[in-house]
Formats: sequence, C-alpha cells, structure tokens
Amino acid sequence: MSKIRAAITGVQGYVPEYVLTNAELETMVDTNDEWITSRTGIKERHILKGENQGTSVMGIEAVKGLLAKTNTDPSEVELVICATVTPDMQFPDTANLIANALDINNAFCFDVNAACSGFLYALTVGAQFIASGKHKKVIVIGADKMSSIVDYTDRSTCIIFGDGAGAVMLEPDTSGNGIIDYTHKSDGSGSEFLHLKAGGSMKPASVETVLAREHFAFQNGRPVFKAAVSGMSSVVGEVMKANDLEIDDIKWLVPHQANIRIIETVSRMADFPMERVMVNIQKYGNTTAATLPLCLWDYEDQLEKGDNVILTAFGGGFTWGAVYLKWAV
Ligand code: COA
Repeated sequence: MSKIRAAITGVQGYVPEYVLTNAELETMVDTNDEWITSRTGIKERHILKGENQGTSVMGIEAVKGLLAKTNTDPSEVELVICATVTPDMQFPDTANLIANALDINNAFCFDVNAACSGFLYALTVGAQFIASGKHKKVIVIGADKMSSIVDYTDRSTCIIFGDGAGAVMLEPDTSGNGIIDYTHKSDGSGSEFLHLKAGGSMKPASVETVLAREHFAFQNGRPVFKAAVSGMSSVVGEVMKANDLEIDDIKWLVPHQANIRIIETVSRMADFPMERVMVNIQKYGNTTAATLPLCLWDYEDQLEKGDNVILTAFGGGFTWGAVYLKWAV
C-alpha cells in the first residue's frame, strides 16, 4: 500500500456578525482609514459581542458546519485539536468545550498555543495521528477571540486584530495527495516583542495588573514585522527546496494574514506572483490562529484536487513555519 498521508477533506470558517470598521475605530482612537489601509491593508474585522461568549462559540459554529459538510457523525471523530491563545478559560482546553457542545464524545481533545502559527503547528500535529495509521478522522481548529485581549485604547494594536474561527477535517489519503512536508521553528528570544504580561503563573491577575492594563496583548510592531517577513520567506524557501519545487509548481501560497505589507514583501522576496497568494486580511484583520483556515475557506472554490499549496505563518513566541500539501478535495 502507498504511504498514508493526512489530507484536508473539508474546511469551514465562521466569523461573528458584528463588523468593526475603520470608520468606527476612528471614533475610538486617534487613527484614520487611510493610515490603517495603507499600513495594514485592513478595512474591517469581525468582533464577537455579548456576555459569556468565548472562543469556543466560534469554534463550535465552524466545526458544526464542517461535520455537516463532510457528512461526519460526531461519534466518528477521534481527535480534536484547537489552536488558540484566547481559550475560554485557562483550563479545561477549548477543544474539549467545542467537542462537548457537538456531541463529539469518542475523541481526545487538546489545545495548542503557538499564537499566529497555532493552526499550522496543530495541522502538523494532527497529521501525524493520521499518518501513523491509528486514526481516521481528526479535526484541527484555529480560533481566537482577539477582542478579549486587545487594548482598545492602543491605536497600534487595536486596528490589527479581529475574531474568527476555522476548522479542517483530516483523513487518510493514499493517492499521493495530502500533507507532504513541513518545517517549523521557534525562538523564545522573540517573546519580549509580543506577549501578554499578566494572568499567567508568573504574574497572576491582581488589581495592580488590571490597573496597569497588563491583561492586553503587548506588541512592539517593527521587530515583529521584520521577523515575520524574514521568517516566513526563509521557511517557504526551505520547504520548496526540500521538495524540489519551483515557483510555477505551486498553485497557491497561503500566508498568515498579519499585514498586507508583510504578505506582499514575502511574496516579492520569494518571487511569487500576488495573483496566487491568498489574501482576505481586508475583511477579517489578523484573527491569529484562524487566518489560515479562513483563507482556505474563502478560496475553497478556486482550489482543485492535486494543487500544490504552501501555507506559512509567523507569530508570537516567536513561532513560524510552512506546510506543503497537495489539495485532496
Ligand atoms: N493610526 C495612526 N497612526 C498610528 C497608528 C494608527 N492606528 N498606529 C501607530 N501610529 C503611528 C505611530 O504612533 C508612529 O507615529 P510617530 O512616528 O509619530 O511616532 C507612526 O504611526 C509609525 O508607527 P510604527 O509603529 O513604526 O508603524 P508601522 O509602520 O511599523 O506599523 C504596525 C505598525 C503594527 C501596523 C506594523 O508594525 C505591523 O504590522 N507589525 C507586525 C504586526 C503583526 O504582524 N503582529 C501579529 C503577529 S504576526
């Protein structure tokens, strides 16, 4: 029998109804549509509103749609992995909450925390369980409610992030399609540029941490920008070289949606034409772990069986990587 690979057999996304436009942000902080559009490419983002609405709410909607689309009975699912930095609670993990809400009760579930690279890492982890031959149906989710950790008085971060979720089904494929290779990297020295100071074991929540606004994501944008460009370009190059791929062999590049200028620079450095780069940052902003599955969801109609696709991401940690797959649906 030929090699078992994990193939994405379905993708589904979900974004909440409320749309936060650049015009509304202009009423909240000292900014303007022209600055946001030219510096980031973002026009609007979706925000999950309401009391007691956590990341799982969006994950549940995405997985519900995925189960229907792939004709999967919840009892068939064997593993659920949720990539997120905004879990509903510190524990239990959000994957468990999502599975429970959908009667997925024969699966083991856990979360992956790798910020904006979370979905890519989780995809690779989930793929190993399929490639081992042990499991037949694995769901990988990328979901974040960034609005829960964004400081809406900080104009340099609040304009970037949005809320959303995306999920894929992984199943075995022996036809040559599916996830073929990956390269993942981490560098903890980057943590000083992008982190959430309080609420963890090092600095538990206190009146002081709340007053100091330390429960919001902190970012020093410029070093993150530079590291994102060099990180994503180098791993895309690496995975292409390792698999003897030329630019013309690749149908789609799917980059993490952090900033249109990062995406354009990565595409320019890799000599990759923008017409074959998936971009939807203008309508969702940076949804952290959800950007890649939301891209696949939006571009699903343009993907064909056998297409060579490279996904790449960069995020807090620092974490980054690239996955090479052949589209299987
Ligand atoms: N509206 C208007 N002006 C703003 C602004 C806003 N929303 N945000 C920042 N500015 C101002 C700054 O105060 C600064 O003013 P100054 O020159 O008078 O000091 C000026 O614009 C330039 O700020 P800078 O931070 O250097 O801008 P930038 O071009 O680096 O863009 C980011 C800022 C955050 C958009 C950009 O650095 C970025 O995208 N970084 C990567 C973010 C990312 O991808 N994070 C997720 C992890 S992958």
